[in-house]
Amino acid sequence: MKVIESIKELREQVREWRKQGLSVGLVPTMGYLHEGHKSLIDRAVKENDRVVVSVFVNPMQFGVGEDLESYPRDMERDCQLCENAGADVVFHPQPEEMYTKNFSSFVDMNTLTKGLCGKTRPIHFRGVCTVVSKLFNIVTPDRAYFGEKDAQQLAVIRHMVEDLNFGIEIVGCPIIREEDGLAKSSRNTYLSAEERKAATVLNRSLQEAENLYKNGERDAEVLTGAIRSYLDKEPLAKIDYVELVDWNTLETVEKAEGSILIAIAVYIGKTRLIDNRIIAE
Ligand code: PAF
Repeated sequence: MKVIESIKELREQVREWRKQGLSVGLVPTMGYLHEGHKSLIDRAVKENDRVVVSVFVNPMQFGVGEDLESYPRDMERDCQLCENAGADVVFHPQPEEMYTKNFSSFVDMNTLTKGLCGKTRPIHFRGVCTVVSKLFNIVTPDRAYFGEKDAQQLAVIRHMVEDLNFGIEIVGCPIIREEDGLAKSSRNTYLSAEERKAATVLNRSLQEAENLYKNGERDAEVLTGAIRSYLDKEPLAKIDYVELVDWNTLETVEKAEGSILIAIAVYIGKTRLIDNRIIAE
């Protein structure tokens, strides 16, 4: 496996693969890889001849006061995980390589990015869309892999790919959880032992709503209300949002019908965690 830092070198590598008629999969990440990322790489390795994993903590998607500086990093461990999983290249550019001095172009979206996480993170998705577009242009993959844990991000990228005719298949992969149900996330490392225990409340509250749904409840207010009451019982949890939306448009719905997304964001202490259920009838 190669670690490539320059865009030029990565382009040459991809050109070489293309000459040989090989397909290419891309797994975009911000590093500090865990089982969730591994599941994306595993799937990419299965479905493509060559796989690029990008490891880049993208400054553009962090707002003022967010955790850009403290975001966990461990390149050595990341490379080991990628190599063991069968990736061919880790693309690890420096910020100056991705954003040159005069950088001034952005990819943004008027819909899908305003609600849910977009409310508390107003510039986040502009940063995500811009960096993912750049990665798509650099790697020109056949397929790109994203986790369903960041459900809004997945919906936004799918929409962007359609709007801008990227011609790339976007593959969404299921959430990977710890044994106690907490969704795997690089940010879980911020939690103290006490907070880590409390954090299981996210998945448990969603399970409560899913059970109600399975028993026939379709009223969005009842379903989100049940999640709120459950979360309110945990003293360390502070709700950012609890929403039930259409899975394609991310618009709020009154009835849980068709494909829906139940998404929550909750502060456990100072750490903001997200989780969700995607439910399709
Ligand atoms: O999901 C992430 O880790 C990031 O938002 C992504 C897609 C790699 C873009 O920086």
